[in-house]
Amino acid sequence: MKQLYFDHAATSWPKPEPVKEAMLLALEQSGNPGRSGHSLSLGAARFIHKARHAISRFFNAPNPTQIVFTLNATDALNMAIKGMVRPGDHVVTTCLEHNSVLRPLYALQKAGKIQLTVLDLQDGTVQPEQFAAALRPETALVVTTHASNVTGALIDVEAVSEICHSHGIKLLLDCAQTGGLLPIDVQKLKLSAMACSGHKGLLGPQGTGVLYVHPEVELAFWREGGTGSISHELQQPDFMPDRLEAGTPNTIGIAGLGAAVNYLNEVGLEQVRQKERALTERLRAGLLQVPGLTLYSPPNSLGVLSVNLEGYDSSELSVVLERRFGILTRPGLHCAPLAHRAIGTYPHGTTRISVGYSTTEEEVDAVIAAFMELT
Ligand SMILES: Cc1ncc(COP(=O)(O)O)c(C=O)c1O
Repeated sequence: MKQLYFDHAATSWPKPEPVKEAMLLALEQSGNPGRSGHSLSLGAARFIHKARHAISRFFNAPNPTQIVFTLNATDALNMAIKGMVRPGDHVVTTCLEHNSVLRPLYALQKAGKIQLTVLDLQDGTVQPEQFAAALRPETALVVTTHASNVTGALIDVEAVSEICHSHGIKLLLDCAQTGGLLPIDVQKLKLSAMACSGHKGLLGPQGTGVLYVHPEVELAFWREGGTGSISHELQQPDFMPDRLEAGTPNTIGIAGLGAAVNYLNEVGLEQVRQKERALTERLRAGLLQVPGLTLYSPPNSLGVLSVNLEGYDSSELSVVLERRFGILTRPGLHCAPLAHRAIGTYPHGTTRISVGYSTTEEEVDAVIAAFMELT
């Protein structure tokens, strides 16, 4: 049976050919980057340099050195949150966040280091006015996702950014679901920091993520160690990106991520977004015809559609979709328990059907037909 992949919100699959080629080349031609002057070390450093520049241009960072390579979005979010907050700070976030935001923030709150406000859902998303109303004199940081990984609901980050900027409050944006799908200009959005997975919409391999840090934001050290720079010093370098990148990096993965971003540039972000929108609307319209189906994603959401089907638990539905039709989805809580509480699907969750760059209309139609057959 042909596999129909509808779990792009977890990780994109398959990866584009140029990504595989770049990774193979890097595997064959990489020493340890920045550690020596021999050809393989220099070759590895070149792969990383090129990828950093490509990603910097992609997000319009003011300087490639403000781009830090991480393991994934979780790594980037932890570095940004723990590196930015100071004791006594008040932090505002939303119920739509992934556990990679919620868990660090709740841990800081539990340790008595910060005060935390979590904004509720209003009309399917979190509204800019809710952010404005939650601010206090001691509010230092707003952390918000760009889009929910449960319902695909978008947050009006332009408006949230204006609110934060006018109050001198730092803004950390989680672009795990939107990087590679929506245009993200870190300067236009006046972001203090931005975290993104490399392996979802950016189409890179797993084990890659990106953290952008505004030049005037000094994140506390995340880990100390070898950087290949100022090795005589017993202190971590204070310049970027070495400040936040200690240890041998994932050269192979980063080379793949660089190739992925170049691939996206060649296809064109507008083209990617248009295709994703058309597929999402086709899927949404089809699913809405299925008797006994509840759709939790608001109109104009990203292609991350959460559903429940009468008579099925979300896990059971995912298993049946794969066993009978070869359709791969993700059931449960999607590491976002508060989002599920907000839409009334906690603790059983939903079955999430997410489209991506490789999805076709025929595959979407096959999903709709499968649901019809199950009712
Ligand atoms: C909104 C959101 N934030 C953060 C993450 C964590 O991403 P990663 O798996 O790259 O750590 C995810 C992953 O699903 C996500 O959807």
